Amino acid sequence: MTRIGLIGAGVIGRTHAQAIASTPGFELAGVADPFPSGAALAEEFGAPVYRDHHELLATGGVDAVIIATPNDLHVPMALDAVAAGIPTLVEKPIATTSAEAQALVAASEARGVPVLVGHHRRHHPVVRRAKEMIASGRLGRIVAVSATAFLRKPSDYFDVAWRREHGTGGPFLINLIHEVDLLRHLVGEISQVSALASSATRGFDVEDTGAIALSFAEGALAGLVVSDAATGPWSWDLTAGDSPRFPVHDVDSHRIGGERAALTLPDLHVWEHDGPAEWTTPQHADREQVVFEDPYVVQLRHLGEVAAGLAAPLVDAREGARDLEIVEAVTASAQTGSVVAV
Ligand SMILES: NC(=O)c1ccc[n+]([C@@H]2O[C@H](COP(=O)([O-])OP(=O)(O)OC[C@H]3O[C@@H](n4cnc5c(N)ncnc54)[C@H](O)[C@@H]3O)[C@@H](O)[C@H]2O)c1
Repeated sequence: MTRIGLIGAGVIGRTHAQAIASTPGFELAGVADPFPSGAALAEEFGAPVYRDHHELLATGGVDAVIIATPNDLHVPMALDAVAAGIPTLVEKPIATTSAEAQALVAASEARGVPVLVGHHRRHHPVVRRAKEMIASGRLGRIVAVSATAFLRKPSDYFDVAWRREHGTGGPFLINLIHEVDLLRHLVGEISQVSALASSATRGFDVEDTGAIALSFAEGALAGLVVSDAATGPWSWDLTAGDSPRFPVHDVDSHRIGGERAALTLPDLHVWEHDGPAEWTTPQHADREQVVFEDPYVVQLRHLGEVAAGLAAPLVDAREGARDLEIVEAVTASAQTGSVVAV
């Protein structure tokens, strides 16, 4: 039995509690959250509640912890878990600054205590298949990617202060970081970014919409539009079925164009020409089939394997820190109007 301690009992904390409860071989060993949400979630899932993460870490009864608190608490809490020698999955973004993230990378590596970052999409069966297809060369050299994340969030989402404040909230830190991690995983390392940001719709300090261009080390380019104010189904979250909180729409959110073929996600259509690969030749699409598995459950099983010393983290602290560095460069580009090398 792998005993998991959960720190933070909010929206994503509940998702983790559900994944733990539904996965054989895992047990929710305790919940640390000083607010009423903590006691309520602990009672619902039949686990003890602790006033803070120090109490939970001190029980000696957890094999791994999941940190699902507001962004600015990730690093201080993860450093405490690492100091206690407990393998830790920290929610994304790993930190609020890459300097802070580097401190966690250093502590994890110095102590030999694994830190995983909650970029759960890498555990989605669609992403696993896409990664295999790209690696097999079926698309040819990747040339261009276009992606949208239209996520019209309700007004009360922003009642929680950190979600509307510069430095902790906004769709760059909250949403774009998932896109960055996904594209680095599928297409490769990012070398330059350029971005525009707008807060015209919600009027917060932090952006509500961004248009971002990414340049990959291998030469591919990507264009992304991310918004928490725009209506539309074109986002990973509203198409991929990651969470029962969201309806699923049968449209794509990501288009990956290679020299030979193109791939859309998450619907896994592969577009190929009927003859020579040039624009006057008609194209057809074949749909790849995968068996759906809840990526939070797959991520949890992976955490169990890492905690048991059977696997290395798929997204470790170094990877999470790199994702954050790219998002920082996006924010810097939007503020200065310059292309930023990373
Ligand atoms: N991977 C994903 O799909 C995903 C999805 C949503 C959120 N997230 C990330 O998860 C984190 C939490 O997001 P959320 O939407 O669940 O936020 P939330 O505000 O709903 O929940 C945060 C929880 O942390 C608790 N908390 C605050 N201070 C605490 C402390 N000192 N000790 C223990 N608990 C404390 C709060 O009481 C609350 O229950 C954020 O970093 C967010 O970016 C990840």
